[in-house]
Amino acid sequence: MTLPKAVAFAHWMIAQNVRPGDTVIDATCGNGGDTAFLADTVSPSGHVHAFDVQSEAIQATYDRLQKKSLEPYVTLHHCSHEYAASVLTEAERTNVRAAVFNLGYLPGSDKKIVTSPSSTIAAVLSYLHTFPPDVPVIVVIYHGHPGSNAERAAVENLAAELPEQEVRVLRYSLEFQEKTPPYVLTFEKTGNDTPHLSKLVQAYSHLSTKG
Ligand SMILES: C[S@@+](CC[C@H](N)C(=O)[O-])C[C@H]1O[C@@H](n2cnc3c(N)ncnc32)[C@H](O)[C@@H]1O
Repeated sequence: MTLPKAVAFAHWMIAQNVRPGDTVIDATCGNGGDTAFLADTVSPSGHVHAFDVQSEAIQATYDRLQKKSLEPYVTLHHCSHEYAASVLTEAERTNVRAAVFNLGYLPGSDKKIVTSPSSTIAAVLSYLHTFPPDVPVIVVIYHGHPGSNAERAAVENLAAELPEQEVRVLRYSLEFQEKTPPYVLTFEKTGNDTPHLSKLVQAYSHLSTKG
């Protein structure tokens, strides 16, 4: 076998858990690579909700979907990802089977517009709290760009803080590489009885920037 890189591993996890008819979240649609993969996986009866704060990314994703005739299976939201739970209907929330984040900047664009610790943590907590148990919340973490260390530390701290009885955490990382490649942290709620998670959601609610 060839050990997959981080994004390929994220797609493999999605393929294990997601079927046509499911609802899925792309928390950072960027140029639409993950969105297209998700749309292909859930079509023709499922749906992708994809988020980005840059209109350029929303347009790039739309163009990519249209080329593959996948746009009917996607709703693009030009807003920050922590609002996903509030834009989905109750039926959609219970039908979510995976969520994926690709942290960092839009490739080929302004490297100053990057994902931030506050919205990333608020979104991960909100997804774990709102979506059903056993739904992987997959975070692909990049090194090297300004701000990446703080964001990585925030996600790692969250992983350490969550009690294992309530949330399982998987790390997938290619080690001893010359460059530091991206790696994956996947969070998965174990059940619906999650008092610590609820307290954390409350404690971190101030991180949300708009309602
Ligand atoms: C690494 S790129 C995503 C790449 C994408 N998954 C792809 O396949 O092309 C990260 C994206 O996150 C977006 N982003 C930054 N902050 C965000 C936020 N709070 N909510 C949603 N998207 C955000 C950036 O605009 C950028 O397009």
